[in-house]
Amino acid sequence: MLHLSKGDFVWVDSGAGVPIGAEVKLTDTGQLQLIDDEGKEHKINKKTEGSIRAMHPTSVNGVNDMIRLGDLNEAGLLRNLLVRHKEGIIYTYTGSILVAVNPYQLLPIYTTDHVHMYTDRRLGELPPHVFAIADSCFFNMRRNRKNQCCVISGESGAGKTESTKLMLQFLAAVSGQHSWIEQQILEANPILEAFGNAKTIRNDNSSRFGKYIDVNFTKGGAIDGARVEQYLLEKSRVCRQAPEERNYHIFYYMLMGMSDEQKKILSLGSAAEYNYLTMGNCTSCEGRDDVKEYAHFRSALKILTFTENDSWEISKLLAAILHLGNVDFEATIVNNLEGCDIRISTHLNMACQLLEVDPKAVEKSLTQRSFMTTRESVTKPLTSAQAVDGRDAFVKAIYGKLFIWIVDKINGAIYKPPETPDEVRQSIGLLDIFGFENFTKNRFVIAALLMILELCCGCFQTQETFFL
Ligand SMILES: Nc1ncnc2c1ncn2[C@@H]1O[C@H](COP(=O)(O)OP(=O)(O)OP(=O)(O)O)[C@@H](O)[C@H]1O
Ligand SMILES: [Mg+2]
Repeated sequence: MLHLSKGDFVWVDSGAGVPIGAEVKLTDTGQLQLIDDEGKEHKINKKTEGSIRAMHPTSVNGVNDMIRLGDLNEAGLLRNLLVRHKEGIIYTYTGSILVAVNPYQLLPIYTTDHVHMYTDRRLGELPPHVFAIADSCFFNMRRNRKNQCCVISGESGAGKTESTKLMLQFLAAVSGQHSWIEQQILEANPILEAFGNAKTIRNDNSSRFGKYIDVNFTKGGAIDGARVEQYLLEKSRVCRQAPEERNYHIFYYMLMGMSDEQKKILSLGSAAEYNYLTMGNCTSCEGRDDVKEYAHFRSALKILTFTENDSWEISKLLAAILHLGNVDFEATIVNNLEGCDIRISTHLNMACQLLEVDPKAVEKSLTQRSFMTTRESVTKPLTSAQAVDGRDAFVKAIYGKLFIWIVDKINGAIYKPPETPDEVRQSIGLLDIFGFENFTKNRFVIAALLMILELCCGCFQTQETFFL
């Protein structure tokens, strides 16, 4: 039986499948009692005795690197992160992996002094930090002449995108040129986020696409360019949003930030007037200033060499999408077949004018479908529900293509293809991609950490830096 005395730390059964840490304390009457990390009291008696286990000293106050934990299990990892989080420490290593716990507040740990402090230091020499991971990528790339890759993963709202931006800022600072290209790479973010991020119930600025940014360096270690790859944009959001969620930021930015004159040309009103912007019953986002964001977005477009005409064409497409979303259908019967007509409004004409297409042709495409039989082409009317689906598919295709075009345009400004096939190039790739949140029961992240811990303890050498 475990001998307990005041001040000891133990593991107790939490009832949630994973043990929880607890401290042995004395009651007013001098009895031993256990108070767990959540402040709950646990009895010490014959029934519970068997489930109480001694805590390894490394778990009591937590460690910088979880490889050093004596209790190398799920409870040990979680308690270590908890103990540190309570002290305001958000970063912890697991070998060359950095685990970040979102602080949800601006911490004074990303200053120029911190950049200098973490430059050219060995991983582990200083307290864990996202800059240390970026520095380690940069150092390994230069010393080993090998490209590096950093995977940033975790559930929605974990802080992946913020961490990616911090790494980019660090790389821009240490590559030391303070050049135009560095600024262009950093300013690609507000554009990508305007079109690919939205307010969700988990995150006010949730990335609804995966992003891989490959930063290229010259032989001398200066940033030379970058290339963005995008994956799996959530196109359905353009037409539908869950309660309390918004469509992509850009729509609200535009409606709030554009001049009245421009809005008049595009025949635009306020967000509340558009079906595609009101499905989630939420058009504003607390703490986000859409007017200011629109101004930032516009200046980023200029930095990324989008012309005034490009920018106007983008606005026209976005306005056309909003008008299409307000196109309504009413059911009709044609030759005993269920069909539909477009309800009279200015929206279809306006959308067609902005898309520079013939309204009659669009009307036909939205309300009828044609298919080939073995002998002839047959046209059949669509029901109003089918017409709505067709309209939404059309809109999603427009937005999807627009997003790809924008990413290509950004790459056109920031990516320089090699001048000769044998040009020496080095790169650091940053993958900001949503993780494992789609499973109802999710033990994957912990399982992955434990697996990597085992590998690290076995002196596993890896070229890549992982950052979960
Ligand atoms: N290091 C940090 N310091 C301060 N605040 C942070 C930090 N990391 C994240 N945050 C806060 O958490 C919010 C969500 O972070 P972020 O958008 O990076 O999450 P994400 O993992 O990219 O989520 P999603 O998968 O939904 O895109 C940020 O808008 C910011 O307010
Ligand atoms: Mg994100």
